[in-house]
Amino acid sequence: MKRLAILLIAASALFLGQAQAQRVNLLCSPDLAWCEALGPAFKEATGIDLEFQRLSSNDGLARLRAEAANPIFDVWFGGTGDPHLIAFREGLTEFYEPSVWDEIIQDLKDQVGGTYIPLYAGALGFVVNEGVLEGKPMPEGWRDLTDPMYKGLVAMSDPNSSGTAYTVIATLVQIFGEEEAFEILAGMHQNMAQYTSSGSGPGQLAGRGEVAIGVQFMHDGVKFAAQGFPLVTYAPVEGTGYEIGGLSLVKNAPNRDAAIAFIEWALTPEAQMIAAEQGDSYQIQSNRNTPVAELAPDLSGINLIDYDFDTYGTPEVKERLVDRWTNEIFPTPR
Ligand code: F6P
Repeated sequence: MKRLAILLIAASALFLGQAQAQRVNLLCSPDLAWCEALGPAFKEATGIDLEFQRLSSNDGLARLRAEAANPIFDVWFGGTGDPHLIAFREGLTEFYEPSVWDEIIQDLKDQVGGTYIPLYAGALGFVVNEGVLEGKPMPEGWRDLTDPMYKGLVAMSDPNSSGTAYTVIATLVQIFGEEEAFEILAGMHQNMAQYTSSGSGPGQLAGRGEVAIGVQFMHDGVKFAAQGFPLVTYAPVEGTGYEIGGLSLVKNAPNRDAAIAFIEWALTPEAQMIAAEQGDSYQIQSNRNTPVAELAPDLSGINLIDYDFDTYGTPEVKERLVDRWTNEIFPTPR
């Protein structure tokens, strides 16, 4: 029945689209390879063209804000959940309930349902190239990342552009309280070789041996290891935060029917399997009928914090924490 509904929605979008442009314009925040794989598969399934621009999660939110009066994008696909929640709260996106809503993992819906559609989940961790550590022990937890022995050996992304880095800050604040979290961020800064603009950048640097420790989502670490880079991926001992990656319909989307057809398609197991099948991404996908990829980190075996999506998806909270990092931590000489 549900498959039929999806086909009917896609077919009516096709029909309506004779009069409109048959195209969906995607703001795409996961890794580029996954974004690139979507267009051909969606076109094959529905006949609708897809164009996309890849922007990190917080850059994506900034674009939606800038274009609010005249939206260019129809759908925001992927990226960490906090900015999707903020976009909804600022009226930049609207909640669309897909026909497969009852197939979406209940726990994910309980956290953010009614604001944005959960697309996937994944936990933060360390992605380590042991060879570059030259005999130093692998860091076990967040506090270890402040140890001066790791000077110049750590990479993380920049929270001004990257949703991953904001998830790191929000996670540290939730585990340690804000003051100690910022002491840890200051200590990490002293060891930082580079802040990348996108969340998976640190693992690439670690894979190439330019740094030893990438702080990022674990599902990106296992991907680079599967590509042959000498990396191990694990969660910090004090516990870790996680993302519920988002899928949102842009408010006043110029190609609304095609946008809805895309959302319906993107939530099918067939579409959700593309990322792992092509080796592009190993998150836990949100449709419970999508097989869990063998390489996807097992979240049930990780000490996950009870991430407070409601608080950390509040515009003022995010703004204040990112500003504090930008003004207090980033400019400090290292
Ligand atoms: O696809 C990789 C990924 O880690 C997603 O799981 C996540 O939502 C996204 O990248 C975040 O990217 P960024 O940190 O660049 O916003």
